[in-house]
Amino acid sequence: MKVFSEQNALKTHLLEHKKQGLAIGFVPTMGALHKGHLSLVKMALKHNDVVVVSIFVNPTQFNNAEDLKKYPRTLETDVDLLKTVSNKVLVYAPSVDDIYEGKTEAQDFDFGGIENEMEGQFRHGHFDGVGTVVKRLFEIVTPHNAYFGEKDFQQLQIIKKLVKIEKLPVNVVGCAILRESDGLAMSSRNTRLKPEYRKAAPFIYKTLKTAKQKFGTKSAKQVALWVERQFAANKLLKLEYFTIADSETLKSIERKSVKKKYRAFIAVYADDVRLIDNIALN
Ligand code: PAJ
Repeated sequence: MKVFSEQNALKTHLLEHKKQGLAIGFVPTMGALHKGHLSLVKMALKHNDVVVVSIFVNPTQFNNAEDLKKYPRTLETDVDLLKTVSNKVLVYAPSVDDIYEGKTEAQDFDFGGIENEMEGQFRHGHFDGVGTVVKRLFEIVTPHNAYFGEKDFQQLQIIKKLVKIEKLPVNVVGCAILRESDGLAMSSRNTRLKPEYRKAAPFIYKTLKTAKQKFGTKSAKQVALWVERQFAANKLLKLEYFTIADSETLKSIERKSVKKKYRAFIAVYADDVRLIDNIALN
């Protein structure tokens, strides 16, 4: 398995593949890999000749210094895990300097408003950091196809917008959320959950599924109130937000329209671990 820590070495290697006209797939990650990440890698391998996986804990997307410090860095295990999928994957695990070249700052983007909804309200500047690093990574890897999980649905929409406004020649592919057998969405943060909180966490998806059922007959407001009551009665999980929003604009809805697609989005604290999830409603 080839692991590159410098963009120049990766670029030189990729040039050979490009000369042969091979399709390059790309899966950007922050490491601490799990089966959710691997599902993206498998999808990329299916549709491309060469697949690059980046492993980079991006400082500019963390609005909480403690969170950045605590983020797990497990390159060796990550590489071993990738080997279980394919030995052909190219890993790009750069230093902060290799990406930011001495200027570790986020660019100021205008994503047309979607950056201010949900996660944007609770994590200021987060999507500028994501946009900055993904644009940079796209420039380095120059992929034909890039794979992002619906686990971070708002991020996926932001990346689609980024590609549009920056006119980047990349096809962005959204991939379904992979879950544990008890329904908890796979996440690098799950390993930080103390046993009692880990046991409590599947309540999040269970509530989302019931909310989806209720959305068939009830208004968005009624469903939201019901969800809020469920979490108020839960001793371990603290609801940060629950929103039913238009899947395109990510704006919360007042009234349903049969023509539009909706999704429910949720953020919950399990002790000091922040978990997010979402579900398609129609
Ligand atoms: P990270 O949290 O490591 O996630 C990398 C990719 O894996 C994202 O596209 C995310 O949506 C996807 N993913 C995570 N859990 C998943 C699951 N349970 N099922 C399916 N896909 C899942 O997201 C980031 O890193 C960063 O913001 C990044 C895009 C790399 C920019 O720094």
